[in-house]
Amino acid sequence: MGLVVFNEFMGNSVLVVGGGGREHAISLGLKESMNVSELHIAPGNAGTALIGNNHQINISNVDEVVELVKELDVDLVIVGPEGPLVNGLSEKLNHIDVLCFGPFSSGANLEGSKQFAKNVMMNLNIPTAASIRIESIEQAEELIDGFGPIWVIKRDVLAGGKGVTVTENKDAALAAISEGISLDGFVLIEEFLEGEEASMLVVMDESSYVCLPASQDHKRVGEGDTGPNTGGMGAYAPAPIVTESVKNKVIQRIIEPMHNWLSAQEDLYRGCLYVGLMINEYGDPYVVEFNVRFGDPETQVTIPLISSDLYDLFAFTAEGKLSELNVEFYDKHALTVVLASEGYPSKPKTNRIITGLNYENKDVIIHHAGTKLNSEGEITSSGGRVLAITGISNSLSEAAKSSYSSLKNIGLEGSHFRKDIGHRSL
Ligand code: AMP
Ligand code: GLY
Repeated sequence: MGLVVFNEFMGNSVLVVGGGGREHAISLGLKESMNVSELHIAPGNAGTALIGNNHQINISNVDEVVELVKELDVDLVIVGPEGPLVNGLSEKLNHIDVLCFGPFSSGANLEGSKQFAKNVMMNLNIPTAASIRIESIEQAEELIDGFGPIWVIKRDVLAGGKGVTVTENKDAALAAISEGISLDGFVLIEEFLEGEEASMLVVMDESSYVCLPASQDHKRVGEGDTGPNTGGMGAYAPAPIVTESVKNKVIQRIIEPMHNWLSAQEDLYRGCLYVGLMINEYGDPYVVEFNVRFGDPETQVTIPLISSDLYDLFAFTAEGKLSELNVEFYDKHALTVVLASEGYPSKPKTNRIITGLNYENKDVIIHHAGTKLNSEGEITSSGGRVLAITGISNSLSEAAKSSYSSLKNIGLEGSHFRKDIGHRSL
């Protein structure tokens, strides 16, 4: 396919790094901007191929990304996943004077190492679960009763939310500990936090920060929050659990101290800080995790609620002048349901044909995630999470209705989705 160019006389050339639903949502938002003339995605998916230029490179090799940036002469790079950030993509781009939305690797370590994130939070007095590092099964047996039931066992690796075991069963906890130790040499046992989860995506640079509408993910694979953890089976925004009062506490106790600390570092933190929250019955927020990027599928319900120009949001942040920008939002609700492959999350079956995609309904966005075009030009599945069907409406229940009725028409053999996305608020 030839190069897709729009607004060719006035816009900028942008590269979005990643190939999931999050990157399709970011790309769709950028396509709306008058400031974008060329949209590139690496590697992208079948959805981004419809609106921009996909480039099949290996994004975990940051040198390959840098080469592509030079070749395409892009003005701004937006990094979707954490891997390239942890691997130093942002500083490499800074070195060649290319704007990058996404922090340097030292900041990305907040996601790269849960232990590092815990240490930062302890030093800043940010509320979070107590945690301990366990290096042997003997040590685990000695300490385990002090932490549960319920037990939370975490591997300190990038595992897309899948390196965490939460269980009421002591044998299962010990098995997870033993497996983690054999793989990595140690695991973390964490105090179990009670409450309701929410995600706050905070766009920040050293000059300012902007909280995007809070959302709620659904991490477990099954209805009623049962079964294993996944990358996220659906989300909605705004999440009513984050009331004005809760939001103020989150800002005061978590975001302000993190922003002050990150801004004082020599290395740049220009990007998104994803604050994974547990909110207890008194409305007190605790940090479950930090991510250094937009969430997936939270992005699919967050980007459509931003009414301001998305290129400006990314570019001002990447330039360190977010304080000069006024960011505005629609007074709307968004809800997305993830359609997953048979066998997801443990063993997804891919390469199956997807039918019934209809882009005509204005209240629904079909976000592609693990999709690709086969040699016959058919859209096929290529990952665990295949599509995120996002309804946008004046109410959460209408958004849910739009999403689910659109989903009914989509065919993918063996696929599954949760039928209760939004249940806490509907
Ligand atoms: P993480 O990758 O750290 O976000 O953990 C994945 C999921 O496990 C979270 O979204 C929570 O649902 C659950 N989880 C993690 N840590 C805790 C905790 N300390 N207490 C309760 N649930 C947790
Ligand atoms: N939806 C969870 C994440 O992006 O980490």
